[in-house]
Amino acid sequence: MYRRPILAANWKMNKGPSETQDFVKSFIQKSSERFSADIVIAAPFLCLPALSESLREVDGVEMAAQNCSQFDDGAYTGEISVKMLRQVLVRHVIIGHSERRSIFGETNAVINAKMKKAREVGLKLIFCIGETLEERNAGQLEAVLSSQIIEGLAGLTLEDLDHTVIAYEPVWAIGTGVTATAEQAQEAHAYVRSVVASIYGEEAAQKMRIQYGGSVKPNNAAELMACPDIDGALIGGASLDAQSFFDIIKNGVPA
Ligand code: PGA
Repeated sequence: MYRRPILAANWKMNKGPSETQDFVKSFIQKSSERFSADIVIAAPFLCLPALSESLREVDGVEMAAQNCSQFDDGAYTGEISVKMLRQVLVRHVIIGHSERRSIFGETNAVINAKMKKAREVGLKLIFCIGETLEERNAGQLEAVLSSQIIEGLAGLTLEDLDHTVIAYEPVWAIGTGVTATAEQAQEAHAYVRSVVASIYGEEAAQKMRIQYGGSVKPNNAAELMACPDIDGALIGGASLDAQSFFDIIKNGVPA
């Protein structure tokens, strides 16, 4: 089945509003044609209005937030609600990134609550999962991924799944320069798809796009993206530079 590739930049806590405008200016100078892929930029909350403004004239690039609150508007100091994200025209939200899990203590239950809240307002989900090196070495890869998927997606409908992309990001490959080999990534992606099939059926699993994330660079994008179950990439460090993000797209999704 054809699955349209989806490549997303995850800037993490980098760039302010003015750097955001510079990035978009430089990125659009490179891309005169539309890509045959969905392109998403996940910027810090504070940059989203500037990103929205800069992307007004740009076709085919959508905005994501990197997180959202699991609560509706109210007394939650320091949080950002899904309703606020919609107001600034955000279309996607990354949920369950390993940094949110490990640094900010987000559990599968919290991640599940955020996913449901985001779907209430029609946000599309980029749902991150992935194992640590200790878990992989202890033979727990499949157990970890399946519980992240089952608990993270609990209560989400088939329609919600239609608006969900899973990002498989082995924690040991994030920001380390160590990429999973194409073979390791493909194996994990096929497993992820099989878990989705066991919950939602084969057809839904075949439609589901699964991104790989973890040290994706211009020089490894093509090999990773050529794997049958890899449908895109979530790119951290190498997405901060417009040229490098552009090269990843160009190499990963040949025209
Ligand atoms: P990286 O980050 O590309 O810098 O490894 C990926 C991610 O954390 O989404």
